[in-house]
Amino acid sequence: MNRRPEVLVDEATLAQRVGELAEQISRDYAEARELYLVGVLKGAFIFLADLCRRLTVPHRVDFIAISSYGESMTSGDIRLVMDLRSSIEGRHVLVVDDIIDTGATLDHLMDLLRARRPASLRSCILVRKDKERHVGVESDYLGFDIHDVWVVGYGLDHADRYRTLPYIGVLPARESSSSDPGN
Ligand code: IMP
Ligand code: MG
Repeated sequence: MNRRPEVLVDEATLAQRVGELAEQISRDYAEARELYLVGVLKGAFIFLADLCRRLTVPHRVDFIAISSYGESMTSGDIRLVMDLRSSIEGRHVLVVDDIIDTGATLDHLMDLLRARRPASLRSCILVRKDKERHVGVESDYLGFDIHDVWVVGYGLDHADRYRTLPYIGVLPARESSSSDPGN
């Protein structure tokens, strides 16, 4: 247990890409009065913290927590654990999340938030796995495309561990074989 994950995306590459995303977002929202960032707990907390400090547009930060169950997950199996503090009606909302695996979580979350009638709604995702099972939801801003491996670090977990690794790593096969109970 707790063997050191192999580096997939190192710290310097992460910092560089997060800076590029922040620049692009700042450019795109230059005309917006204020950007409303929605971090998806827990996985997005480090990515969001780094991203928002590089933005040059006015913004607020809020969090939402959802939990998903097991492998055979459909949108219906996703539960809202903690809601936003404020109404997003009429606001420019940018959802910040850690990963698109099947895409079911993001798909469900975007539907949920769209129903609250924000002025605009986009997503910024740190990593996306290249797999056939994507439900079709696309991110507006994407950090990295990766292969279909279990990644940890920089907010991402396995059974709620490894989140504070400063890089994105891949677990040795033996440890990544059980399913993910954390978010
Ligand atoms: P979805 O399949 O896109 O709905 O992803 C569901 C959730 O599973 C994500 O939000 C993550 O919390 C988690 N997840 C999926 N793949 C990974 C991974 O490689 N590392 C850590 N968490 C993951
Ligand atoms: Mg997550």
